[in-house]
Amino acid sequence: MLQLCRLGLLLGLAVAAAAVLAARLMGWWGLRAGFRLFIPEELARYRGGPGDPGLYLALLGRVYDVSSGRRHYEPGAHYSGFAGRDASRAFVTGDYSEAGLVDDVSDLSFSELLTLQNWLSFYEKNYVSVGRVIGRFYGEDGLPTPELTQVDAMITKGLEANKQELKEKQKFPPCNSEWSSTKGSRFWCSSKSGGVSRDWIGVPRKLYKPGAKEPHCVCVRTTGPPSDQTPDSPTHRNRGDLDHPNLGEYPGCPPLAITCSFPR
Ligand code: HEM
Repeated sequence: MLQLCRLGLLLGLAVAAAAVLAARLMGWWGLRAGFRLFIPEELARYRGGPGDPGLYLALLGRVYDVSSGRRHYEPGAHYSGFAGRDASRAFVTGDYSEAGLVDDVSDLSFSELLTLQNWLSFYEKNYVSVGRVIGRFYGEDGLPTPELTQVDAMITKGLEANKQELKEKQKFPPCNSEWSSTKGSRFWCSSKSGGVSRDWIGVPRKLYKPGAKEPHCVCVRTTGPPSDQTPDSPTHRNRGDLDHPNLGEYPGCPPLAITCSFPR
């Protein structure tokens, strides 16, 4: 009787194990969470070739159906290397060799990760997300791995830094500049210099950025309150940002001139 019980238990375990394996292979686990989970071997079947079940690619572990972009990804197409796998790294490096078509992004910089983020937005907008691939970025439970959490944190930090930089650029737009061996150099401000459209022109100043070796020319607002003060602040001296501590005047250029020329 005990023997029979053991046999039954063993059989039960074997059936359960087979069911688990089958469920993993068919990607059914993910359905519980509203999306499908792939193991890499399953995803590899989706390369858009004859007899393949579809044309998918993965980016940072997220799987997209790219069959509507077949001309880019099908076998023989320029970006076919992306099909049926997570080749996140190659989205930044452009290295489409087998060694380059991998998901290791651990040594990428903030700005490179932001490139990946842009690609993610691209796929979210243009293709249908169909699931997650188990591996570097998602666990067997379909949850993000610590590695993905870290990548996401870096992307968030990078986006925040970009936002700050944009804000700084609105405050201190870069000057227009020209240089010639005969005439020397000239810096000047205009209402669109540095690609920043604004309702003031400003005057050229050297901006000493913490950490930067050399100052660079920015246009500085000359009236109203400083940018970091509220408009109705009673203390401001109506000098715009002219008194910002990181700014320096160009020697030989009148303090309120819009153009500074430095002939040779
Ligand atoms: C890291 C470098 C690059 C990556 C990762 C990359 C990736 C891609 C991908 C994934 C697509 C397909 C987008 C879709 O699904 O619609 C695409 C399309 C395209 N790429 Fe690239 N690309 C890179 C560099 C370049 C460069 C340098 C050029 C041009 C000199 C270029 C020209 C194009 C063109 C013209 C298309 C659209 C083709 C069409 O609509 O038929 N790409 N690229």
